[in-house]
Amino acid sequence: MAKLWGGRFSKETSKLVDQFNASIGFDCRLWEHDIRGSIAHASMLGKCGIIPQADAEAIVVGLRGIEDDIRVGQVEFDVSAEDIHMNIEKLLHQRIGDVAGRLHTARSRNDQIALDLRMYVKDQITYAIEAIKGLQTALIATAEKHQETVMPGYTHLQHAQPVTLAHHVMAYFWMLQRDVERFADCYKRTDVMPLGSAAMAGTSYPIDRQYVADQLGFSRVSENSMDAVADRDFAAEFLADCAILSMHMSRFAEEIIIWNTREFGFVELDDAMATGSSIMPQKKNPDVAELIRGKTGRVYGDLTALLTVLKGLPLTYNKDLQEDKEPVFDAADTVLQCVMMLQKLIETTEFRAAAMKESAKGDFSTATDAADYLVRRGIPFRQAHEIVGRMVGYCIAQGKAIEDLSLEEMKSFSEAYEDSGEAFNLEHSVEARGIIGGTAAKFVKAQIEAAQAVVKAEAIPATE
Ligand code: ARG
Repeated sequence: MAKLWGGRFSKETSKLVDQFNASIGFDCRLWEHDIRGSIAHASMLGKCGIIPQADAEAIVVGLRGIEDDIRVGQVEFDVSAEDIHMNIEKLLHQRIGDVAGRLHTARSRNDQIALDLRMYVKDQITYAIEAIKGLQTALIATAEKHQETVMPGYTHLQHAQPVTLAHHVMAYFWMLQRDVERFADCYKRTDVMPLGSAAMAGTSYPIDRQYVADQLGFSRVSENSMDAVADRDFAAEFLADCAILSMHMSRFAEEIIIWNTREFGFVELDDAMATGSSIMPQKKNPDVAELIRGKTGRVYGDLTALLTVLKGLPLTYNKDLQEDKEPVFDAADTVLQCVMMLQKLIETTEFRAAAMKESAKGDFSTATDAADYLVRRGIPFRQAHEIVGRMVGYCIAQGKAIEDLSLEEMKSFSEAYEDSGEAFNLEHSVEARGIIGGTAAKFVKAQIEAAQAVVKAEAIPATE
């Protein structure tokens, strides 16, 4: 097929170059955005009198027809037409003839692809936020159900202090909330309309950039044509946000995997959400959580790939930038799938309250409370720490838990004790942390209420 840019060439492009150069195999995913952008551009050209109004209308009608054909799967893209932009222009030419040739007035593929990718990333940000909100809602529901479920809280993966499961899962809520905020912030910088930058220096036609921005729901137009065609910051930021979100999900996935071991037994996965082994009949594996953890690796890879493509690239457009799309597509797909799967996993998993509590018993996780008790009776914390440390040593030697110590035994460590070890039970310890952000029931309830309001709030302000 003759190339749209074939004028200055006297030989046909090598088939190998066609294959190597083509991006249609993956950028076909941008067809909808490309057509929407072209419709806005053509309407603007007609409105500004840069091309005859009738031609602009014919182009718009033609593009709408192509859109319908693609939607019902009637279009086969052509590798020799290289990318989505030229494929659509070629289809338009087949449909409406030479008038199609007016569409690319005052435009280059360089600003066109910048536009398409920005539109795509904007959409993906809204999908990601919506999906995260679903996951957050599942966490809130779990927290509401487990406000009284006491479990060991960990540092160094060692029992530290008792907490409620509600408090534990709400920790993930706030991580995800920062992810929502990061995506919403990235949206602001993605929401900039680059069309009009043309190849790189801008265009000599009297175009109306604001009109195009308004048509496409962009809140601003770009300030510098060279920056606009060379910039992929928004894509790198989107990938960084995806990477951090994936990291958060991998941490929860890891906890589910640990909790699902026989040693912990804190959760029972739903049969529909687990998998078996081809050799060991007894196995019930947490593949879903493992894949969420594992896919974090590919999302990091996507971020690294794009940053590396961008590193040292001279201004302005370079074909290297064609390598931006696959990482963005891959990360967007992966993250959406993982968020939805993690939500499903949480919604279907049974959290075993009795096993959690049992595990926290006799684990010295209330030792801090036994020390705080002494502090409230005037003993400096360092000294109290030392006293309780000795008491723990005694318990270990005696095979006892702090809760099992009699008042006499307690008094042998400090006269200040007026309660037996029983007073430092798990519930007491949880309740004692009655400050904003603490694990006490009243404050976890307040946390859940705050979370409910946050999840309802619009993360991205609507453009007027
Ligand atoms: N397929 C190209 C890309 O994805 C579109 C822009 C091509 N521009 C060019 N001057 N070759 O980046």
